[in-house]
Order: sequence, then structure tokens, then C-alpha cells
Amino acid sequence: MDILRRGRLSTDIDEEVLCFSSSMEADERVFHADIEVDKAHVVMLREQGIINEEQCSAILSALDRIKKEGILALDSSYEDVHIAIEARLIQLIGEDTGGRMHSGRSRNDEVATCIRITLRHELICLMDELHSLITTLVNIASKHCETLIPGYTHLQHAQPTTLAHHLLAHAHAFMRDLERIMDAYKRTNQNPLGAVAFASTSFSINRERTTQLLGFASIMENSMDAVSTRDFMIESLSCAANLMTNLSRIAEEIILWSCSEFDFIELSDRYTSTSSVMPQKKNPDIAELIRGKTGSVYGALMSVLAICKSLPYSYNRDLQEATPHIWKGMEIARLSIHMTQGMLSTMKIKKENMKKALNMGFTAASELADTMVRTTGISFRTAHYIVGTLAKTGKTPTLSEIDELSLNIIGEKLSDKGLSEESIKKALDPMEIIRKRDISGATSPKEVQRQITVLKKKLEDTQHRIRLIHNNITKASEELEKICEQYKQKNL
Ligand code: ARG
Repeated sequence: MDILRRGRLSTDIDEEVLCFSSSMEADERVFHADIEVDKAHVVMLREQGIINEEQCSAILSALDRIKKEGILALDSSYEDVHIAIEARLIQLIGEDTGGRMHSGRSRNDEVATCIRITLRHELICLMDELHSLITTLVNIASKHCETLIPGYTHLQHAQPTTLAHHLLAHAHAFMRDLERIMDAYKRTNQNPLGAVAFASTSFSINRERTTQLLGFASIMENSMDAVSTRDFMIESLSCAANLMTNLSRIAEEIILWSCSEFDFIELSDRYTSTSSVMPQKKNPDIAELIRGKTGSVYGALMSVLAICKSLPYSYNRDLQEATPHIWKGMEIARLSIHMTQGMLSTMKIKKENMKKALNMGFTAASELADTMVRTTGISFRTAHYIVGTLAKTGKTPTLSEIDELSLNIIGEKLSDKGLSEESIKKALDPMEIIRKRDISGATSPKEVQRQITVLKKKLEDTQHRIRLIHNNITKASEELEKICEQYKQKNL
């Protein structure tokens, strides 16, 4: 009988029940992390004198072999990878030695540790991808500080802006996503190992040592919390959901901008598809899929929230059901950032069409009203009334039309109060409009350049921080390997 059931239970696991309850398939994602956790635990057990040198050496060598054989070589009649690895270990080196690996440990702290280790890598991948997406946006923006484009509210022409200003809006949103993910990393990078089932152990294990060997920043302080919580998964998935919302918004604009009505960009063929029946079609399928996959990431977040809700402390098998959703969410998010970066860096920008679109929708209306206020001293609300009335004609107004109307409304001609042909002409010129807006955060090329500099500096800082995070875990993992080599060889 299997090493798990043979004591308390008197039957092997039923085929149908195994099929329902096994996590073996999803455990592929944590197989490597599990071997690493096993090694760190075994190294620590030896250093604490809980197992001896020979036992440590034999277990470490067998773990290497199991790693080489891969997860598919494990006995799939076990309910998860953790017990299947232990069973294989015992098969390889016998129960008197192999049966010692699980001293002072439970699958409850083991699985939580494996998920955290695997998720760390996923989060670093997201950070790298986001960093490169923001860099792409900033690079395109720096070439388009004077590329005029209509800005929209309610998807109606609103005011002129520049392509740089628009793209930087997205860049800032993605920078916040990146910062959120870096923050989630901190709470993921804590070590639950040593919590055992939930109440720790009377073996004198050293949690600080496994924390160091596995490259965690700290231990999880409370052993019950350590095995019970999946809030770090919820947090990472919320980051991913927020990020997908931002990605879906740029995807939507890519879709809109490449349709014939806008015709602002043309996507590279690589990111488009065509119709099986309409030979002329060039469809933005990849952007549409990002929009669609956003729903799947929300679904992953909702699933984990719903699975964790109201669970009594401490570990419950329900938690196993949550794990695949984190991998799905992380994978979609990572690929979606990558695709977005690819689309943006290869698309053709049709500057002339963007500028032409400014002739529609009277986007200079606000500036004209502001100019009336500044040159004539009337109130903004009155200027808004005058320009709004003129807008109904659908044409850009002349000074005499403005005067005629203002005479009706306020009993005075605005030209008598200082409004000139020259000031109207300037108010209606989109390049003038964006230049005039030069307060912090505004559209003027100079101000947008300043924003670019700030973002570039932030990109440098985050790059440095991501590298540190990455180096910390790589160093720990190399160190662990080195120690394992020593502990393996010493007694051969
Ligand atoms: N496969 C389980 C999971 O993913 C591992 C922990 C099982 N622990 C237990 N006590 N049954 O959560």
C-alpha cells in the first residue's frame, strides 16, 4: 500500500477519487521548487543534528536523481507531488533513510513554501515585462512630443493633445502596476517552512536557516498563519487584475486606432489575423484577446477569493483548488504584457491622420472660451455659454459671429472688450494650444519632456531594484546547490 495511507486507512486510493482529488497535474508548476525546499530542509536537518551526515548525503543524491527523472517519472497514484517525491525517495534509498526527510515538516508548510518560491519567479517575470513595456512607451513618446492627436472624453473629440502625452498616461499606469507588484513581492517572499502542520514542531529545526537557504527575506512569524493563508496569492492576482485592466484599455485603443474610422496606426502583420471569407481584412486579434483574457484573470482572482472565503483555520484541502488559478493568472498577465510591448514597438504611426482628426469635433472650443475669459474679463461660465452656442453650427466661429452672439447674451461685443482676430487664431491652433499648457503634468512638449525624464529615472531605479531581487534568490539558490554538493560528497 502507499506510504501515506497504509497506517490509518485500509484501502488504496480509489481511481475515481484520486482523479477528483489529485493535484499532480498542477503540481508540475511547483516540482522544481519542491526539490529545492526538500534540499534546504534536509541540509538544515543535518546541521541541527536531526539526521546524520550519511543520511543527508544519501537523501540529497537521491533528490538530484528525482529531479533529473522529472515529475512524469513519479508514481501518479499519489495525490500530490510532495508525497510522490517522498515515495520515490524511499524507493531509491530505503525507508530508514528516505523516511527521515519529512521529519519536522508537513505538506502544509511544504506546499505553501513551494507556491511562494514559484510565485516569486512569476512576479519577477511580470516586473521585467512591465519594465520593458514602459520603456517602449517612453521611447515612442520621446519621438512624438509634437505629434498632435485629438484627446477624447466619452469617446467624443475633446481637446488636442500629443501622442507622447497620451502614451505617457499609459506608461504612468503601468509604472504603478510595477510598483504594486514589487510590493506584493515583499509579502510573497516570506518563509512558511517550519510551521509544519500548523503548530510547528518539537524537533529543534532552524527556520532562520531554511529562510536563508531559500532566499526568503524573513520567516512567517506565526506558524498557524503560515500554513493557512493564501492572501499573498490574492494580492498578486489583484495586481494582475489591475494590470490587465490597464492592458485592456490600451488594447481597446489599439483596436480603435487601427479601424478605418480612426486610422491612426497600422499594426504589424505579426499581431494581426485575417478573415477566412473577407480577403481585405486585417484584424487586431491579439489586442482583442488581451481584452478578452482580462476577464479570465478577473476570474482567477474571483476564484481564489471565493475558495479562501470563510475557511476555518488552519489548512484545508480547499486551498489546493486555489493554486492553479494563480498560475493561470500570472501566465496570462505575463504574455499579455509581452504582446502589448510587441504590438506597440512594431506598429506604424500615422501622424498625418492623427493631425487631420483634429479638424473634427471643434477640439479648440475650451481654449477659445479660456481665451475669451483672459482677453475680455467675462466669466468662464458666460464664455462657455457663448462658445457652446456657436458650436451648434458645426463650424469654427469668426470674430463677427462671436460679437453678434455676445451682443445678444451680454449686450456687448467681445471685440470691444479686447478679443482680436489674432487671439482667436491662436486659440484655434492646436499646436499653440498644447504649447500653452505647460504647468506640471500638462501637454506642452517641454513639460512632456520633463515627464519623460522623471519616468526614465524611475525606470533606472526599478531596474536596479528588480536586479537586486533577482540576484538575492539566484545567489541563495546557488549557495544551496554548493552546500548540497559538499554535503553529498563528504561521505561518499
Ligand atoms: N496538494 C496539497 C495542496 O496543494 C498539498 C497539501 C496537502 N496537505 C494535506 N494535509 N492534505 O494544498
